Amino acid sequence: MRTVRSVADLRAALAGPRRDGRTIGLVPTMGALHQGHLSLVRRARADTDVVVVSLFVNPAQFAPTEDLAAYPRDEARDAELAEKAGADLLFAPPVDEVYPPGFATTVRVGGVSEPLEGAQRGASHFDGVATVVTKLLNMAGPDVAYFGQKDAQQAAVVRRVVRDLDLPVRIEVCPTVREPDGLAMSSRNAYLTADERARAVALKHALDAARAAVEQGERDAAAVASAAAAPMRALDVEPEYLALVDPESFLPVDSIDRDVLVAVAARVGKARLIDNATIRRAR
Ligand code: PAF
Repeated sequence: MRTVRSVADLRAALAGPRRDGRTIGLVPTMGALHQGHLSLVRRARADTDVVVVSLFVNPAQFAPTEDLAAYPRDEARDAELAEKAGADLLFAPPVDEVYPPGFATTVRVGGVSEPLEGAQRGASHFDGVATVVTKLLNMAGPDVAYFGQKDAQQAAVVRRVVRDLDLPVRIEVCPTVREPDGLAMSSRNAYLTADERARAVALKHALDAARAAVEQGERDAAAVASAAAAPMRALDVEPEYLALVDPESFLPVDSIDRDVLVAVAARVGKARLIDNATIRRAR
């Protein structure tokens, strides 16, 4: 696996394979790779001929109050893991390669980027995500780009960008990878103390409780949300939001009369965690 740091080197490395008709898969990451990221790399390896992993902690998607400075960074470890999972190329640009002096363009997605994460983290979060993902797609020109379902709203925002801007790429959203107790893998789990780690499973318990309520016949979204909140309270974890939404628009639903996404966010100690589950319409 080679590491490249400039757009010119990335394009030069991909020009030959592209000319030969080989397909390119891109896995965009901010590093601190865990099994969730590696499942995307393995999927890209299985689907495409040349696998590019980008490693860029994108300052534009962090609010001033968030953890940009503290975000875990270990390029040597990430490079080793990416290579073992099957990456051919690591694209690890410095900040001024992505945002050169004078950079003044933002990709803003209306609608789907506004509720939940958009409301909690501010509009600049998904502006930053949409802008950097658009740039990474333009830099690498992949046939397929891979994202995790854990960041379901991010995936919906990226799909919207790709549709609206006619970007010639297929977006694949891959299942959330979980710890044995159900906690969704996240780079931010590294912030949890032992006690917080034990309580962090509250988010998964909430999703399980929502599903169980629907399986028992509950169709009222508020009642399902209230059933989901109970196991969080039991572990002393306060949701920032616990919402039943349409999986495309992320607008709230009143009743479970179609496929619904249950989305939850909570702070556990210093870590802000998110998780979600799709509840299929009862047929
Ligand atoms: O999910 C992430 O790690 C980031 O939001 C992404 C997609 C790499 C953009 O910076």
